[in-house]
Amino acid sequence: MVDLAPKGLEGVYVDTTEIATTDKTGNLVYRGYRVIDLADKTSFEDIAYLVVYGSIPDADKSRAFSSFLRENAQISEESGKIAGIMKGRPVIDVLRTVVSSLKPEGVNTDALLSIAAKFPEIIHSAANSSPAGSKLPEAYPDRFYYLLTGKEDRNKARLLEKILIMYMEHEFNASTFALRVTASTMADPVCAFTTALATLKGPLHGGANSAVLKFLLGIKNRDEVKRYVDSALEKKEKIMGFGHRVYKDKDPRAQYIKKILLENFRDNPAVQNAVYMEEYIWNKKALAANVDFYGALYMHLLGIDEKFYLPIFAAARAFGWVAHYSEQMSNNKLIRPLAHYVGKMDLTLR
Ligand code: ACO
Repeated sequence: MVDLAPKGLEGVYVDTTEIATTDKTGNLVYRGYRVIDLADKTSFEDIAYLVVYGSIPDADKSRAFSSFLRENAQISEESGKIAGIMKGRPVIDVLRTVVSSLKPEGVNTDALLSIAAKFPEIIHSAANSSPAGSKLPEAYPDRFYYLLTGKEDRNKARLLEKILIMYMEHEFNASTFALRVTASTMADPVCAFTTALATLKGPLHGGANSAVLKFLLGIKNRDEVKRYVDSALEKKEKIMGFGHRVYKDKDPRAQYIKKILLENFRDNPAVQNAVYMEEYIWNKKALAANVDFYGALYMHLLGIDEKFYLPIFAAARAFGWVAHYSEQMSNNKLIRPLAHYVGKMDLTLR
């Protein structure tokens, strides 16, 4: 018997990265900075620049990066038509299809970023018949909030910005790893983004956030929390928004979003039920709430429709994907592991 890697590659380091990690205190780190500090002190666009290029931009670079994202945000008539044909389908499916239809413009960072820059308008066009228009807010989070809700609201856009920052990057998570496998074959960025989007959709990954809202809003009080959790655990069902491959104690992103929820919506019954559910599940099964648990409720309270939660995650993570595609290509080797065959052998045809 050969030595197999653990199931799901759990606990296996398969390569090095300079983009993100979790430090000794359990905090998520982008390029050396703790994400919770970045989110308190700087903007989504500057952090996207940091993730992609490895350093915080100065004022000129920051302005240029923001302009680049704005100038590349608009989608073509053809993309709008494809989104139109798919109207009514899950927004994430429309996003994946439109992204897969984009013309590859090369493999440099600008080409990658110009794909990531389009996500908000593709997401908008998946749910609206009218085009996004040309007079959109300048900053990425404000523009995105407007495209999601049809409203300009600086405060809510600032809050959306926080969750975009939390979702931006997480080393070799499933969608990023899938993107790196595709990149390692030297397929173009459009192919790699399509792979990542397809992988993100699964309910064990990004698909968890909208699943959370579906049950959380149906729960009215602490007794119902207990009933829901007891029944799910008894039936050995997964409770969406709980558990994580890396964070077995606390997910720092979930705790950050919870803190803002409590600062802004402390008296909301759903927030109170969520906090109680976190405590109850932790005491019962030692499972920590992950970013999707509080993230779903957070986006709901920002007035954002549930169909957008997974696409929002994708739009933020797209900047992590840009960084990982570039890192993979900077020192590429085809990712091609082995499978230990345990099937039948030596059969003969009659
Ligand atoms: N609800 C109930 N039990 C759970 C949950 C959960 N959400 N998560 C893990 N467990 C249990 C498992 O059943 C298993 O129990 P056992 O040892 O008694 O058999 C144990 O905890 C270990 O769980 P695994 O699934 O083996 O852990 P793994 O690291 O493989 O999975 C995962 C991590 C996939 C995230 C898992 O916790 C899960 O399915 N969670 C729900 C989906 C979810 O919220 N996904 C979002 C992840 S965060 C993100 O993508 C940003």
